[in-house]
Amino acid sequence: MASHEGKPIRVALLGCGTVGTEVVRLLTDQAADLTARVGAPIELAGIAVRRPNKHRDVPAELLTTDAEALVTSADVDVVVEVIGGIEPARTLLLAALRGGKSVVTANKALLAEHSAELFEASDASGADLYFEAAVAGAIPLLRPLRESLAGDRITRVMGIVNGTTNFILSGMDSTGASYAETLEEATRLGYAEADPTADVDGFDAASKAAILASLAFHSRVTAADVHREGIAQVSAADIAAAKALGRTVKLLAICERVAHDEGEGISVRVHPAMIPTSHPLASVHGAFNAVFVEADAAGEMMFYGQGAGGAPTASAVLGDLVAVARNRVHRGRGPRESAYANLPVRPMGQTPTRYHISLDVADRAGVLSQVAAVFAEHDVSIAAVRQEGRVDDASLVIVTHAATDAALRSTVDKIGGLPVVREVVSVMRVEGEET
Ligand code: HSE
Repeated sequence: MASHEGKPIRVALLGCGTVGTEVVRLLTDQAADLTARVGAPIELAGIAVRRPNKHRDVPAELLTTDAEALVTSADVDVVVEVIGGIEPARTLLLAALRGGKSVVTANKALLAEHSAELFEASDASGADLYFEAAVAGAIPLLRPLRESLAGDRITRVMGIVNGTTNFILSGMDSTGASYAETLEEATRLGYAEADPTADVDGFDAASKAAILASLAFHSRVTAADVHREGIAQVSAADIAAAKALGRTVKLLAICERVAHDEGEGISVRVHPAMIPTSHPLASVHGAFNAVFVEADAAGEMMFYGQGAGGAPTASAVLGDLVAVARNRVHRGRGPRESAYANLPVRPMGQTPTRYHISLDVADRAGVLSQVAAVFAEHDVSIAAVRQEGRVDDASLVIVTHAATDAALRSTVDKIGGLPVVREVVSVMRVEGEET
């Protein structure tokens, strides 16, 4: 790699939507400061877009529709990708890395599926691959995991990494409204996309969980390894059941080490869960993101901020751009892939979890013991029981200790079939408490 002492760092920008436009603005507005911080000016060499006439707020002379020519141009040192999706981003970034160009990308779906080949291409040429903006927008999170905590042993990463679903669940919690009504409101206000599938079904959070788990546990984890449940099944009854016991419902991305007879593994999952209102993640409202990290020596940490939006995401892109530009100026190199631990991802059924179960039952002698017997049969230990009698039935709330998810599911299935159980009102996992 040539030294760039004083020579401009030439940047190709792929994509110029909400984030790309902000990247161009920040590069222009902060040019003098960025030059001082990097030791060389950062200049735009070109901006690849599909329809140049739709981009009136960036310099017209920089626009091109030939992304391939731009990323392979000898005049380009760094490629910044904010197109999103797998193709053409994958092909373009592989070409850039193979050509020795540093890459900065905000593309979570690409990283969650193809990080192995991207890192391989980056290693082959010695070019940097940075992707802070791919998870939790503006929040500095990947650099802490990749660098600041590289000397520690991370045990758990648990976060709210999708603003759309957090906005919807916060709304359901504050109004008591149903999922469908709250989604409609979120769409009207622009917090949910017209097609909200990627967010509400947990695909977006699952990509982010795969990236977080890979970095936290030095292992290769792809989106396909992540157990995923979205929020469409969360009911007003679930939210009310959580509230009644001082809990709140969040869509969590959880990456944790799990002990197993066959050796240590990891659990990587996205699902709604009840957490105590005293947990730091419970106070993350609206479209904000936050990630709670636990490490052996550091203890507990929380990273909080804006997880989406043009300017916040551009802030993370610019931070990476400064880092890779500095590396080029000073002939350094950023962290490479670290997958040496190679920990296996355990199936959800083997993952230890806790359940909160609310039932409507007949109110007569022996009902509680019949229900309790099913837990005992499945070797699931009960942590707390609360019963409230009504006129001719009762509400029974049971919270379990940790058991395998498979045992808990079988327990719930069997309980639902007991003649004394009139309705299973709510079943949800409990996180963020002692097991
Ligand atoms: N759609 C995401 C969210 C932002 O709702 O948080 C981009 O990852």
